[in-house]
Amino acid sequence: MAEIDTVALGARAEAMIGELAAISAEPNLLVRLFLTPEHRRAADLVARWMHEAGLAVSEDALGTVRGRLGEGPRLLIGSHIDTVIDAGKYDGPLGVIAGILAAAHFKGHAPVPIDVLAFGDEEGSRFPAAMTSSAACAGLFDRASLAMRDREGISLEQALRSYGKDPAAISEAAYAKGGVLAYVEVHIEQGPRLETAGQPLGVVTGIVGQNRSQIGVTGEAGHAGTVPMDLRRDALAGAAEIVLAVERIAQKNEPSGMVGTVGRLDVHPGAANIIPGEVRLTVDLRAMDDKARADAYASIEREAKSIAQRRRLAVAFEILHDEPAVACDAGLQQRLADIIASFGGRAPHLPSGAGHDARKMARLCPSAMMFVRCRKGISHNPAEYCAPEDMGLAIAALIRFIENFARS
Ligand code: GLV
Ligand code: MN
Ligand code: MN
Repeated sequence: MAEIDTVALGARAEAMIGELAAISAEPNLLVRLFLTPEHRRAADLVARWMHEAGLAVSEDALGTVRGRLGEGPRLLIGSHIDTVIDAGKYDGPLGVIAGILAAAHFKGHAPVPIDVLAFGDEEGSRFPAAMTSSAACAGLFDRASLAMRDREGISLEQALRSYGKDPAAISEAAYAKGGVLAYVEVHIEQGPRLETAGQPLGVVTGIVGQNRSQIGVTGEAGHAGTVPMDLRRDALAGAAEIVLAVERIAQKNEPSGMVGTVGRLDVHPGAANIIPGEVRLTVDLRAMDDKARADAYASIEREAKSIAQRRRLAVAFEILHDEPAVACDAGLQQRLADIIASFGGRAPHLPSGAGHDARKMARLCPSAMMFVRCRKGISHNPAEYCAPEDMGLAIAALIRFIENFARS
């Protein structure tokens, strides 16, 4: 086995992450949304790196960049290059870059055929549903999502066409089950557990189930100076009560690890001197226990209806996506743990509260994830940080994983 220079790998990964982070729609914050000019530039940069690593590069109908090494049933290694709004620079790119640098280690002769995948839509920051790119690769793309619209009213179908893609070709993006051996993803932990344990690398046991929904609250817009308080049908005041109900219901289920978030409120007409007539809010609800999550979502709907009734408002619910929790493959978890141990780590096993493309890919083939320590657990925040030494170690572990996988 060739020696691995983890310091050089970590430094290279840090430089590449910096290059990708310079591609943003905003000058002072990192925003790189699906099917935008920034996505195009990031995809081109990733394609160039793949090419330099000796991979044959292609792009599928959802814009996923694929770097291929070898022929035959393959090991897939991937993550995403889209970001949240005002993102950190490691969430997603680390896994793509780890795949490219691990593949590059083999200098054109991988021990097992490999595809490195750079997905363009993990976060769901542009369109309401997330992970459409990995869904397409896993053969799970729902054509109804082509009608989803972004904040500007552009549909996914229109955005794909403007990006030069043919929506009719989406089914061709799906891997045949017989053509894939496994999927593995390296990702920053985005939580504090590895740092607390003093460990650079961990093994993911499973990924939480999640539903993302939208609640529309309708009241009546009116003059902020003339409508008496008891005659108002203020949609935002009702929405505020719903926000607190989501928090209360998730807190009640906290022992089972449930979390609930309202991250966005769209208020119409949205002026200081107009009583809000209409509000749309998002609800993101996550738990490892799908039944507990479904029950909690039903409670949120019940509470929202009763708040609306008391305030003479109308409410409407729309579930944008509902993903079951998935377990990572036990055999692959063990291999990752053994490899991390061979580098001197204890390899804590931990569940993921964040969503990942691995959740879709796990429905195609055995899937696993390696987490990398994240400073103070801060993520979805520009302060996100992953040390180059830890990244170098993660890439070295991925190289050994590929070698070990090839031998089995
Ligand atoms: C993506 O990072 C998510 O978990 O929402
Ligand atoms: Mn991510
Ligand atoms: Mn993220």
